[in-house]
Amino acid sequence: MTNELPEHVRRNRAEWDRWAADFVANGEQNWRAGPGDETWGIWGIPESEARLLPDDLEGLDTIELGCGTGYVSAWLARRGARPVGIDNSEAQLATARRLQAEHGITFPLIHGNAESVPLPDASFDLAISEYGASIWADPYRWVPEAARLLRPGGGLIYLVNGTILMLCVPDSDAAADERLLRPYFGPHRLEWSDDDSVEFHLGYGDWIRLLRSNGFEVEDLVELRPAEDATTRYPYVTLDWARQWPSEEVWKARKRD
Ligand SMILES: C[S@@+](CC[C@H](N)C(=O)[O-])C[C@H]1O[C@@H](n2cnc3c(N)ncnc32)[C@H](O)[C@@H]1O
Repeated sequence: MTNELPEHVRRNRAEWDRWAADFVANGEQNWRAGPGDETWGIWGIPESEARLLPDDLEGLDTIELGCGTGYVSAWLARRGARPVGIDNSEAQLATARRLQAEHGITFPLIHGNAESVPLPDASFDLAISEYGASIWADPYRWVPEAARLLRPGGGLIYLVNGTILMLCVPDSDAAADERLLRPYFGPHRLEWSDDDSVEFHLGYGDWIRLLRSNGFEVEDLVELRPAEDATTRYPYVTLDWARQWPSEEVWKARKRD
């Protein structure tokens, strides 16, 4: 079965199974956040400020594409949704299952590739991804798959690294430069020299064309700005940089009726 996966999915599965232990504490912390206390991304930006979630999630069927430890879906469940999570890493899902049991919030967790979800068309009202399939799966595969899974009028919300940030991050653990280090135009696939993972980062025009050609209307592009005293455990961007340019971006789109 593993050999049938696309090459980038196979490589990301191996890397995420290896990295999962480093994401347990973050998962535990985020699972503890109740409605109104949720925080997003590497700077922990409060939902009350970012306003990424719909006001009313009661009764909505949701799917998280690359759910990892599952905390975003737990937030949705606490707000009344019926979530499903899919993730490429069995090790990440093991943490998600343990945290489900500890918090008494259970929802289906599927081990699989968000580019090819084993569920029927038009099963969901909202698809969401925070640094999940949104950066680790091929957008030319996962966006059409999200469109297939959503009902007409369904929402798509996904958080990615800032586009400018990805042009300024060196291929090392060093923080983003204030110069553009790689071209904006060109292949959307990104590999780092010090691990075996594969990421995907599109430019703004490509995102808009991809979303629209798959039946979505773009509703918003939220450029997240951390607070003056925000901190992060990630080495690839400083607070000074992220206060000046968007280090994280959230696309909101809706499938046309
Ligand atoms: C940074 S985590 C984000 C998930 C969640 N927000 C969290 O922090 O627990 C990235 C997740 O995307 C998953 N992933 C990568 N490629 C995927 C794919 N093609 N399909 C589904 N999940 C994928 C990884 O296994 C990993 O668990």
